[in-house]
Amino acid sequence: MIKIAVLVSGGGTNLQALIDSWKKNELGGGELSLVISSRAGVLALKRAEDAGLKTITIDRKKYAQLSGFDEAVSGALAENNISLVVLAGFLCILGQKTLKTYKNRIINVHPSLIPSFCGKGYYGLRVHEAALEYGVKVSGATVHLVNEVIDGGKIILQKAVDVLPGDTPETLQKRVMQEAEHIILPKAVEMFCRGEII
Ligand code: GAR
Repeated sequence: MIKIAVLVSGGGTNLQALIDSWKKNELGGGELSLVISSRAGVLALKRAEDAGLKTITIDRKKYAQLSGFDEAVSGALAENNISLVVLAGFLCILGQKTLKTYKNRIINVHPSLIPSFCGKGYYGLRVHEAALEYGVKVSGATVHLVNEVIDGGKIILQKAVDVLPGDTPETLQKRVMQEAEHIILPKAVEMFCRGEII
């Protein structure tokens, strides 16, 4: 059984997609065992609690240095015997200790077709604002392995989504979430748990 931790920062719709897949036995034998939130009081925590999952809040604001946050995150993962870390709307950078310990065992969902609109500063709604400003006609989502380069790890899955006339960052975000992220993130977790990624 592969024990999975999901790291979140906000609304938790990607976490919900993972919970829904898990309940349908569609995570390739992986088990959701822990949800870590970098912010207190977010909807993602309520979704986790409603699903009966253990939650830990490690508030990024309370750590002056990344190293302290890194110690707390890697400590929580170790204590819970986690094998796979899934960043599902996690809007913080991970530290070296976590990255090294979980090399090739951290996956992230990003709301664009990497290498477009990714890297430092591109997260959440900002990604869709940039896509609309540029005028692309197709956007989408990417699930990739996480390494030291922001959004730079090996790509696992991508799915394209049309940009429609009249789109706002909010409408585009919603379509990318529903038609891409919520489909390819559980699929990538399933692939990992079946040993199909590395
Ligand atoms: C999602 O669109 C996710 O791809 C994005 O934040 C949103 C969180 O939504 N993540 C990033 O931008 C990471 N670079 P959620 O909390 O409802 O899953």
